[in-house]
Amino acid sequence: MHILVTGGAGYIGSTTAAALIRSGYRVTVFDNLSRGYRAAVPPEAAFVKGDLCDRAALDTLFQMSKFDAVMHFAALVEAGESMQKAGLYFRNNVCCSQLLLDAMVAHGVKRLIFSSTAAVYGSKDTLLYEDDPCEPASVYGETKLMIERMIRWYHRCEGLGYCILRYFNACGASLDEQGHAVRGEAHQPETHLIPLTLQVPLGQRPHVSIFGTDYPTPDGTCIRDYVHVEDLASAHVLALAALDERPAMTYNLGNGRGYSVREVIQAARVVTGHPIPAVEAARRPGDGAILVASAEKINHELGWRPRYPELHDIIASAWAWHRTHPHGYAEQET
Ligand SMILES: NC(=O)c1ccc[n+]([C@@H]2O[C@H](COP(=O)([O-])OP(=O)(O)OC[C@H]3O[C@@H](n4cnc5c(N)ncnc54)[C@H](O)[C@@H]3O)[C@@H](O)[C@H]2O)c1
Repeated sequence: MHILVTGGAGYIGSTTAAALIRSGYRVTVFDNLSRGYRAAVPPEAAFVKGDLCDRAALDTLFQMSKFDAVMHFAALVEAGESMQKAGLYFRNNVCCSQLLLDAMVAHGVKRLIFSSTAAVYGSKDTLLYEDDPCEPASVYGETKLMIERMIRWYHRCEGLGYCILRYFNACGASLDEQGHAVRGEAHQPETHLIPLTLQVPLGQRPHVSIFGTDYPTPDGTCIRDYVHVEDLASAHVLALAALDERPAMTYNLGNGRGYSVREVIQAARVVTGHPIPAVEAARRPGDGAILVASAEKINHELGWRPRYPELHDIIASAWAWHRTHPHGYAEQET
């Protein structure tokens, strides 16, 4: 089977592309490299540089190759940035996704796996289930919710089979059999807590900032559910295999355990042996207080079992990546 991976030069898309190749699939990555890296794309994958907002480029892509399914990762992903650049996020995420859906329909591709997010939900003190109300706190979350809704209408009206995967906080890195990091997180700009925290022991920043210490949580900082990127990738492989039997799926992907910002920083101190000074700062717009997944549904229906549920292991793998690639893919790109 031949899978089109949009955004496959990014963090989660490239990791999933590698997992698909390991599972025997043929992969083509389509990415405009606005936030991704050519060097992140697995060498066995075909690569096409292009923008999803360019419908003609999509038609050429679908004419050149026959795809059995699309995994749609491409998006702008920074909640804080989305509050400053709402138009950019609606255009790049929602409008481009609509062009992709139309191209799929026009070229007879009937299977889609879509990267959604915990940011579609409102904050909740207990575990979030897939049928909990969606109340995004950011433009970014709203764009993802709008795309989810479009996908469900394309299912009803055009017979598109879909699996929507709502990831909680993606993190960690891919290691080879010798324990060497081969692929990891390199967002530009970086706003995610674990890579920002690890920049302190790397000497790239003097301290890590804690954005908001007055949230209604036990230590006043935001609580999130951290899920290893390889576990996200394995869920995509499972979902793809299940899509023909279950053509309308929506699943959370998380570990069902929340950690506060302070707890994550403390775990990073233990992993790195560095004191990692932290400085308290104002809240960032677009952050909800508590987002923790119930992944019971995908556990039960598809048999998904995270291999790396422990925060310590997740951070240790991220540290292996950042320590050996302190500038991400920059060296490999030149
Ligand atoms: N990182 C997380 O914690 C997280 C959590 C929940 C959901 N997600 C979702 O997972 C997906 C991947 O996230 P990521 O962390 O790997 O982000 P990323 O920025 O590393 O990857 C996104 C990729 O999409 C590409 N892209 C963006 N707009 C494009 C366009 N118009 N045309 C072609 N390519 C385009 C970028 O160049 C980049 O390579 C996103 O859809 C994101 O919303 C991520």
